[in-house]
Amino acid sequence: MRRFFIAAAIAILSSFAAKGADKNAVDIVLGPWIQNVTENSFTVLWTSSEKVLAWLDVDRADGPTFYQKDRVRYYQDIVGRHYAGTFHSIEVTGLEPGTEYRFRIAGQVVEDEDSNAHAIDFGPQKAIRKYFTVKTLDSKADVCRFCVVNDIHANDARYKALMAPVKREDVDFVVLNGDMVSAVKNIDTLIKHTFVPMGELAANCPVIYARGNHEGRGADWYLTPKVFPTPTGEFYFTFRQGPCAFVVLDAGEDKPDNDVEYSGTAAFDAYRAKELEWLKGALKDPSFTSAPHKICIIHIPTFKDKGSWYTQKWITENFTPLLNAAGVKLMISGHHHRYILKQPGEYGNDYTIFVNSNEERLEVVADSHSISLRSYSVDGTLSHSLDL
Ligand SMILES: [Fe+2]
Repeated sequence: MRRFFIAAAIAILSSFAAKGADKNAVDIVLGPWIQNVTENSFTVLWTSSEKVLAWLDVDRADGPTFYQKDRVRYYQDIVGRHYAGTFHSIEVTGLEPGTEYRFRIAGQVVEDEDSNAHAIDFGPQKAIRKYFTVKTLDSKADVCRFCVVNDIHANDARYKALMAPVKREDVDFVVLNGDMVSAVKNIDTLIKHTFVPMGELAANCPVIYARGNHEGRGADWYLTPKVFPTPTGEFYFTFRQGPCAFVVLDAGEDKPDNDVEYSGTAAFDAYRAKELEWLKGALKDPSFTSAPHKICIIHIPTFKDKGSWYTQKWITENFTPLLNAAGVKLMISGHHHRYILKQPGEYGNDYTIFVNSNEERLEVVADSHSISLRSYSVDGTLSHSLDL
């Protein structure tokens, strides 16, 4: 009898191993993760070990079956051709607001593209035997719900513990508010520390990324925008969910461009000046001005005191008047690695500044009347609460 149980256990384990090495499944090394979500689109990203001509099969999650004829196939198109490679970023467009879509990843491995200039030899078609679902944003939604973590600095254990209680059905999106790593030494390492600890949530829930000053560092810093595509192609952009309009800003590095730390490569003064010009127009967009609540997400908060460094002073002096004039009610930041609350009026700001700790998860729920903020420590204890 004992021998039977051992044999049965081996058989079960073997079947899991066989599934893990399914030769008919497209291979995924990292991901997928979801970026660039709007009311009508989202982008799915992942990496593969082999060069693959990949596509997404997409349809509405409430459709009768995934195999209905009218599902649409999406490729990554670059200047007129479907891209085949190992870093995949496929934008799904033409969608309806507030609607759940399911997708699966499929593709064909490139076996030979060198022998013949007029053709590529592909392996058999493969698909991942799993579906993921994403819900588009909806400006008409009654409620906006999201959570925020920041300044993780590649501490996977703390990140996992903070995200473990977050259920996909309870949030419209997750905000990563900068400094997820201390430097982008390698782009795969950035992805590993940013999306892998989120588990299944990364593949099924939109993620909003606000760049931290540390993600401008490291040898692969210039690849960071590939990992986090946005509607503007920049790390500053706006979006809307229900009663909340969001403006995401990027303060860049925290010290002057000529600081020895940057080895003569920093050009953030020009970058922030361009961002400031963009901000003037973005805050006048009807989708922003019409929202009951205006919220700014920025890694470095706009307040300054004797100890503040160059960039923090600059953004306080230059961003604050524009955000005030636009009626921004709340700023959510990080960077300081501790909880800080600044009331309106303390530093010329007409809005509340909530700085989330690096050891807490901030949960936000807003309806058209009020905004509720609750932050929780790693062990689940309620740390701070605020109602606006
Ligand atoms: Fe920071």
